[in-house]
Amino acid sequence: MAENTCRYRAGLRHWHPLLPTRQLRRRPLRLQLCGEPLVLFRTASGVAAAVREACPHRRMSLAAGRVRGEQLECAYHGWRFDRDGAVHCPLMPAAELRHHAFQVREAHGLIWLRQPQPQEPPQALPPLPSWPHADLLLAGITLHTVPAPLELTLDNFTETEHTTTIHQVFGFRDPAQVQLRVDLELNATRVWNSGPQKPFPRLFDAFIDIRPADAFANDWVTSFAPPLTVYEQTWRRGERLRRFRLRVVMFFLPLADACTQLTTLLYTPRVLPGPLHRWLAAPMVRAISTYELDLDVRALARLADLDPQLSPRSLGPFDRVLLENRRRIQAGYLGG
Ligand code: FES
Ligand SMILES: [Fe+2]
Repeated sequence: MAENTCRYRAGLRHWHPLLPTRQLRRRPLRLQLCGEPLVLFRTASGVAAAVREACPHRRMSLAAGRVRGEQLECAYHGWRFDRDGAVHCPLMPAAELRHHAFQVREAHGLIWLRQPQPQEPPQALPPLPSWPHADLLLAGITLHTVPAPLELTLDNFTETEHTTTIHQVFGFRDPAQVQLRVDLELNATRVWNSGPQKPFPRLFDAFIDIRPADAFANDWVTSFAPPLTVYEQTWRRGERLRRFRLRVVMFFLPLADACTQLTTLLYTPRVLPGPLHRWLAAPMVRAISTYELDLDVRALARLADLDPQLSPRSLGPFDRVLLENRRRIQAGYLGG
């Protein structure tokens, strides 16, 4: 069995939201997490499960297999796999073989996955990450794949200096006018940004009551087990807080050394009455957010190299928290 040499492999002990629930049907899917190739499948009774991709017999990809009842059957010689990794070989029914299985949960419209740790008692299963959401409506879940390491991807989403140049709607007019505050905690970093909203195309404000001259505040907290940032974005005109606000919950999943997935949940207040919110406002928020995240991905795809080292001398005021995030990734996510 090829050894997983990904430098994020220790992160597999945390829960990761890998896929929206609706995207997993009966066909097994090949995915990757922290350098570990795996196959996600849904049994006939609807339970999601995941096992290591390579069949332990002769290495056929189990993504080529098919679900039979509560088991996944290998396409090559028909060995079958239970959700918990028990292996059934038709020619060796008495053999007690096991394959590597992952723990899988479904919650918040997502499929979560982690690798059980050696000697871990079942009651030690860590809880899923939580975030505030009961006060707002889910406008959508998006997935983006970034061709860059975890640290460089998180860097991009931990400063607002680039919002002036890279973004079209959500951002600041001028970084020099942004008030910035950073609070460092043992297991989290908090950042507050406020300043004039940048100009944006007018179509947007037909649905949403923010205006280009508003004061924009983008505050967030980043935690690291797994890496997760919860952004609170609000707008005000003078003292009056706009009704529209956006909460962005973004998980950073290292798929491999130089590939990171963003799993993003978007929350807003009800913007339009009744079903109009679901039919018009939510898709619009989803489309604009997806577009803005595409711009981030495009910027990260243009990095000249993927060295995650930072040179402290060349960091600006918006970048100070990046070094702190590095330390917490090492301690909180990778565990050492
Ligand atoms: S390779 Fe899977 S059963 Fe033989
Ligand atoms: Fe951005």
